[in-house]
Amino acid sequence: MAKRRVGFCLSDKKRKRMNLTAFADLCGHRGIEVVEIDLCRPMASQGPFDVIVHKLSDVIVEAEHDSQSQHLLANFQEYVSTHPDTVLLDPLPAMTQLLDRFASYRIMNKLQNSLRDRCVCSPPYLEINTSDQSAIREAVERKQLTYPLICKTRVAHGSRSHEMSLIFSPAGLSDARLPCVLQSFVNHGAVLHKVFVVGEAHFTVERPSLKNFPLGPCDRKTIFFNSHEVSKPESCSHLTALDEKTPRLPPPSEDVMVALVRELRAELGMALFGVDVIVNIDTRTLTIIDINIFPGYEGVPQFFSSLLSHIESVLEHRGTVPPPRSPAALPHQAVL
Ligand SMILES: Nc1ncnc2c1ncn2[C@@H]1O[C@H](COP(=O)(O)OP(=O)(O)OP(=O)(O)O)[C@@H](O)[C@H]1O
Ligand SMILES: [Mg+2]
Repeated sequence: MAKRRVGFCLSDKKRKRMNLTAFADLCGHRGIEVVEIDLCRPMASQGPFDVIVHKLSDVIVEAEHDSQSQHLLANFQEYVSTHPDTVLLDPLPAMTQLLDRFASYRIMNKLQNSLRDRCVCSPPYLEINTSDQSAIREAVERKQLTYPLICKTRVAHGSRSHEMSLIFSPAGLSDARLPCVLQSFVNHGAVLHKVFVVGEAHFTVERPSLKNFPLGPCDRKTIFFNSHEVSKPESCSHLTALDEKTPRLPPPSEDVMVALVRELRAELGMALFGVDVIVNIDTRTLTIIDINIFPGYEGVPQFFSSLLSHIESVLEHRGTVPPPRSPAALPHQAVL
């Protein structure tokens, strides 16, 4: 059989982190050649590719304001549109929407409707684009968001996107940096369940997370924090330290996880993504708080073998994959 070629288009950081060289060795034993794509050179001269795996988040975000990135993205898109037989993991429009928290929270909201009978939800939130304090306060009340609120930047990629805050009262709302999402904080016993999806497979890893806070407004000052200080495997912060008396909840049921991943896979039309979920300590409801593009799969030793199986399955079923659902069906959310 002719050697199949899989192109990888990743940032230097991502390529080193995932250890692409080791993955290329594994693929080599299965007759698959891994090629590192250089976006600065014409793609056609580096092809042909049967599959392209990419994480172009940096380029997509920078292309909003930078002409060089626009050029790189256009080069990539041109290759993809003129080579319809090349399978792209994952489709650019699906990935692009996850770089914008306004769009990704709409997806989570939609998911909560389709999985209502499975007791899956996403915390209520607001898209904030205005500095008009009275309009924000009024919207928080109207939407019945509960304090504390967690404030996240609209852009979901890059180092700034992990800068967040916990706002404890209407007076603290002026600390929100725009544009952002304000979301009700859900007490979850400081345990985050990171679900990593690779094609048909998924793996769940536990991570530290923010500790519980008393429900309702109080006169505490806004806490600014970086999410990577609280939810990385090695994170150790006063914000994650739980009182020893706090009971530990059982992990989410595998049945519900399977339903959630199945629904999300169909909704996004993506194969490489992660979902962050927490369990509400009061209602035990599985609560989705984040969807990530091509995550790090830290703590998933099966990542390489699963990715290889997925690539082989894609190659086998090429041309028979159903298209993803249309993103046009997302519900409208008022932007402030
Ligand atoms: N609504 C919420 N209620 C309680 N805790 C939350 C909520 N949203 C976020 N958190 C906490 O904040 C952390 C960061 O949130 P989120 O996953 O949205 O940010 P991120 O920086 O995009 O994460 P990632 O590193 O996965 O890209 C979570 O891991 C969790 O500890
Ligand atoms: Mg997260």
